[in-house]
Amino acid sequence: MEIKKVGVLGCGLMGSGIAQVCATAGFDVISLEIEQKYIDKGFAGIRKSLDKFSAKGTLKEPVDQIVARLKGTTRKEDLANCDIIIEAIIENLDEKRKIFASIDPIVKADAIFASNTSSISITETMTATKRPDRFVGLHFFNPVPLMKLVEVIRTIATSNDVYETVYEFGKKLGKSPVRTSDQTGFIVNRLLVPYLLDAVRAYEEGVGSISDIDAAMKLGCGYPMGPFTLLDFVGLDTTYYITDVMFDEFKEKRFASPSLLKRMVMAGWYGKKNGKGFYDWSNPENPLPQDAALRGLAK
Ligand code: 3HC
Repeated sequence: MEIKKVGVLGCGLMGSGIAQVCATAGFDVISLEIEQKYIDKGFAGIRKSLDKFSAKGTLKEPVDQIVARLKGTTRKEDLANCDIIIEAIIENLDEKRKIFASIDPIVKADAIFASNTSSISITETMTATKRPDRFVGLHFFNPVPLMKLVEVIRTIATSNDVYETVYEFGKKLGKSPVRTSDQTGFIVNRLLVPYLLDAVRAYEEGVGSISDIDAAMKLGCGYPMGPFTLLDFVGLDTTYYITDVMFDEFKEKRFASPSLLKRMVMAGWYGKKNGKGFYDWSNPENPLPQDAALRGLAK
């Protein structure tokens, strides 16, 4: 089957990034949100990002031509003739099951459903629909317009045709897809999450300061960001939620949240998105490590 029109559920950080790469690759895109204000915010971010690419001369078309392929809606009925639906709403199984169940009778029967979840079971989400053979995971990475990877996840019920169609679709988006199966965390988070949690545990044990641990992994291993910058970037709340799902699945300490991470999330320190995490992001050009404030919690 040919994919021409893409529906994206959610227009937050990931949803808007996904809509952007789909429109940039030439697909018609319709983004569903619960309120128009979220569409406006997401689309403003898309334009800003496209303007950056345009200034560097990396776009094949003028920004306006790409933006013209993007539509926003608050009506599920507008998704009816999409060829693929990519869900990027809140990381909550019940909410994901609810939205897929509600659009299942609306969207044409041969459309493919995909979830951008980072850790929730694709199989468990899929059972909310009557199209298990046409359901996959399609996991993008933040920031979606820059990160080259997409994980294409199959369940035991996914049809081969659907899986290969989505794999090729990932390539058409300019990404490098990798194949994986529906196991908690897939490839990247299975390996990345224990590393990030170990960094927090090392910090709790006094191995080094926030900026020294970050510098060590950046300069010693060639990582683009140190673990604390990356944690703030991904979101401490998101990471905490992932640990919940992964620990529940594996019952292994390496997937369990360190107490500092839990306490930071309880205190509302979610990272860059709301200004404070392991760094204070009041000035994003110069994030300030929060060792002094966290010391009472860390030891
Ligand atoms: N759109 C367009 N351009 C952007 C952009 C965006 N959204 N974000 C940044 N840029 C541009 C910047 O303006 C900059 O342009 P310039 O070179 O002209 O100044 C360029 O990209 C490079 O950005 P920066 O100078 O800010 O910084 P870096 O060189 O470090 O690159 C990065 C930024 C690509 C984010 C890099 O730091 C990186 O790869 N970090 C790691 C990110 C990562 O690991 N992501 C995965 C997280 S895990 C995940 O998402 C899974 C989930 O399930 C948890």
